[in-house]
Amino acid sequence: MRALVARAAGAPPRVEEIVLPAPGPAQVRVAIRAAGVCHSDLSMVNGTLAPTYPLVLGHEAAGVVLAVGAEVDRVRVGDHVVLNWAPPCRQCWFCARGEPWLCAATGAPSLPSGSTDADGTPLHVTLGLGALAEEVVVAANAVIPVPAELPFEAAALLGCAVLTGIGAVRRTAGVVPGEAVAVIGLGGVGLSVVAAARAAGADPVIAVDLSEAKRDLAIAAGATDFLLSDDTLNRSVRTRTGGRGVDHSFECVGRAATIRLAWRATRRGGQVTVVGMGGKDDVVELGALDIFHSARILRSSVYGSSDPDRDLPELARAVLDGSIALGPLISDRTTLDEAPAALDRMARGEGARSVILF
Ligand code: APR
Ligand code: ZN
Repeated sequence: MRALVARAAGAPPRVEEIVLPAPGPAQVRVAIRAAGVCHSDLSMVNGTLAPTYPLVLGHEAAGVVLAVGAEVDRVRVGDHVVLNWAPPCRQCWFCARGEPWLCAATGAPSLPSGSTDADGTPLHVTLGLGALAEEVVVAANAVIPVPAELPFEAAALLGCAVLTGIGAVRRTAGVVPGEAVAVIGLGGVGLSVVAAARAAGADPVIAVDLSEAKRDLAIAAGATDFLLSDDTLNRSVRTRTGGRGVDHSFECVGRAATIRLAWRATRRGGQVTVVGMGGKDDVVELGALDIFHSARILRSSVYGSSDPDRDLPELARAVLDGSIALGPLISDRTTLDEAPAALDRMARGEGARSVILF
């Protein structure tokens, strides 16, 4: 059984042989068939999210159930499933309130897993999953069955970038037709936000990135405008929005500097939705008078403010009936051995999603 393992912050991850435990009574074993490479994996590799090492990477994946524990009744052997990296407990105060994305039992960047490396050293897994691996053993509530006709690569992307991107637009921000939107950072997550904003009727949808190479990807995903993230950004956004700024900005990088950019690009009374996951020492400075006078809302979107058990099957149907197109999000398909190279490309800001096929 091979998996992509990070040994220490900043050390290049390597594909290693690992040993999985047998599934416990409330666990399932899944053969991974497709896994996306997400920036959060890179933030585990470089230490930004401060996980515990050694760590199996990966959290955006889909596959086939190989075995189920004695108490499991939500899936059966052979079912196709998407992995959920924040499975809610359904018992805490947040779950009872209908906000399972804030479940008190979730949120740790890494968890112990019962897996070991070839020498018997215990391994942690990313967000309870460790899905850049041929197989995983995970909690049964961390798998969501999807129709067998859904391609695995699409199913994988639903599990992080797409649920997050669509949820940020529809649920966290509540974008309505005719609103002006800016999206800062155009990786798999940002492009998914662009597509969702356009689908929600936003106009203009202004896509922003450091790299000119993202222009065509953004237009393909549904952006009406593309702007480079430089000193002239704020002026250019205002030129396109009657001098006001956008109604909604979405930060899809995960840095204080881009949260500031999003804040400045937003009109008085508009909303800044932070989708990126940044480091705890990267601090955003906002003026007290600016906060008052601008009347802006600053909100984060955790897992798209979604309930994956409810929302993911609906997204799967939307992919199957053609109302969501994921083609523009995928820039390349590759193998587990090439996953470190895909992470390097992501660190350089190249491409959209790389999908690992097994
Ligand atoms: N201004 C604009 N764009 C920027 C800037 C900047 N200052 N810095 C980086 N970017 C762009 C990169 O060029 C890249 O296109 O942000 C994009 C980030 O894309 P990916 O690395 O592919 O990240 P993605 O997987 O989409 O995740 C984005 O969401 O879930 C979180 O942890 C994740 O914080 C990360 C964010
Ligand atoms: Zn992710």
